[in-house]
Amino acid sequence: MARILITSAIPYINGIKHLGNLVGSQLPADLFARYMRARGHEVMFICATDEHGTPAELAAAKAGKPVAEYCAEMHGVQAEIARGFRLSFDHFGRSSSPRNHALTQRFAGKLAENGLIREVSEKMIYSVDDGRFLPDRYVEGTCPNCGYDSARGDQCDNCTKQLDPTDLIHPRSTISGSTNLELRETKHLYLMQRSLRDKLEAWIDSKTDWPVLTTSIAKKWLNDGDGLQDRGITRDLNWGIPVKKGDQPWPGMEGKVFYVWFDAPIEYIAATAEWADANGLDDAAWERWWRTDKGAEDVTYYQFMGKDNVPFHTLSFPATILGSGEPWKLVDYLKSFNYLNYDGGQFSTSRGRGVFMDQALSILPSDYWRWWLLSHAPESSDAEFTWENFQGSVNKDLADVLGNLVSRVTKFATSKFGSTVPAGGQFGAMETALIADLGARIRDYEALMQAMEVRKAAAELRAIWVIGNEYLQAAAPWSVVKTDPEQAQAMIRLALNLIRVYAILSQPFIPDASAAMMQAMGSDDWTWPDDLPAAMRVLEPGQPFSVPENLFRKITDEERAEWQARFAGVRT
Ligand code: 2FM
Ligand code: ZN
Repeated sequence: MARILITSAIPYINGIKHLGNLVGSQLPADLFARYMRARGHEVMFICATDEHGTPAELAAAKAGKPVAEYCAEMHGVQAEIARGFRLSFDHFGRSSSPRNHALTQRFAGKLAENGLIREVSEKMIYSVDDGRFLPDRYVEGTCPNCGYDSARGDQCDNCTKQLDPTDLIHPRSTISGSTNLELRETKHLYLMQRSLRDKLEAWIDSKTDWPVLTTSIAKKWLNDGDGLQDRGITRDLNWGIPVKKGDQPWPGMEGKVFYVWFDAPIEYIAATAEWADANGLDDAAWERWWRTDKGAEDVTYYQFMGKDNVPFHTLSFPATILGSGEPWKLVDYLKSFNYLNYDGGQFSTSRGRGVFMDQALSILPSDYWRWWLLSHAPESSDAEFTWENFQGSVNKDLADVLGNLVSRVTKFATSKFGSTVPAGGQFGAMETALIADLGARIRDYEALMQAMEVRKAAAELRAIWVIGNEYLQAAAPWSVVKTDPEQAQAMIRLALNLIRVYAILSQPFIPDASAAMMQAMGSDDWTWPDDLPAAMRVLEPGQPFSVPENLFRKITDEERAEWQARFAGVRT
């Protein structure tokens, strides 16, 4: 049994995420966590909400709520939706937690002790009317690159150029609209990433098994232009983690907070401490996942995220960890994803284009979405959600292939032999061949799941469902029953056992349907089918079973058209 630590990129607190966000981190991380648990490993699966920064402050202001209240409320909303999608986090934390405050300040203190932080005096935009500095999104103005007149201080939405607030032409405050702005001198802390460059490069070079997407992004940032830049890790904001050296004040930094991207990844660790607190456990319980001097040397750590997050996880966060000089666990494997597009364009949170997590659950159960999203995960390139494709996958894979097999077998068995597993006959050549074929395919499936080849694993699982259908088609117990009822009973006994094995194999993808299948088989034995011939005999003659409620329904053309129209436009 191995010890597996899994983190998903933590979603921003401001608003409900769309399906593109879900498939880029939380959902594949959940698939992997479920699979690893099913194989008997000890898993710690962590996620949280990312609650600091200007987006949180601005969203709270828009909602007319104090930011702390807004974040607490939205955390509840996101946690509820995560449960709806059956995301099996061991803990869903909050980056605003006291644990994260203390840990972030601790890391900053250690980095300072190690000479890796320098104080920089710089001129920043100050709004006289608002009486404050205006970082990032608190300023808007004309983009110097493309002339777009509503470019934000951190980025132009029109041409995507990364900006600094002082780059903007005709800047104005997004708080008051005031243009009474001036440049004022202020001090900020910079993490000296450049001095860690060689260490970071050696570490990245040692990760020879990482996906190309991950390594290519990391290398690009390491080597582009002037190479790795030192990075400002403080901001002039009210909401955030106050700048301190450990638990000591940081002279000259009063009133400032750490930059959201400095504290967000530290929350992976803090959320594990929150998990221990929530379960009445001591520090040793979470430290054994994170401190290589306290038991984490045998932990394997996997991170899941969209490609835009890769630089922060391959360079910035490792710089924090390596620079601390303390024995914290670094990521072992970083699985990253391309983007999911929506029906000929992009998902857009600001324009409400596409399907958001709450809306998805309001029209269909989570398994339908989980299946489509995972079986179309944007791994080797960007992928696209279309309603036609979604309808096709659900109707074929889930309803026709899997659902139909379960319903055909259980209904036929009940009508011919009653509602217990029939005892007659022996497995013959066809059954032996099926078991051999299935066994080989399960080994392939395991290898793909272990390698986090999400799409390929889904295709293999579907192939596993298909060979069950092909067996039934060829064996035709509904014909055989007329001439050789004993043999038909053996076939049905095999098919019922097959349903149980399918429940186990499918559980990481479609947990609700799997639970329904297992329950219908009257079993609670989720033992992974390492020994398939034995697994195909677990349901013994006489064991009661039932016909499950329709596992999957089909999506009609009318529904498809209606949803397509409903989600094309602006979300209210
Ligand atoms: O891109 C995002 O949604 C960020 N909130 C991810 C942060 S991941 C990590 F740093 F915690
Ligand atoms: Zn622009």
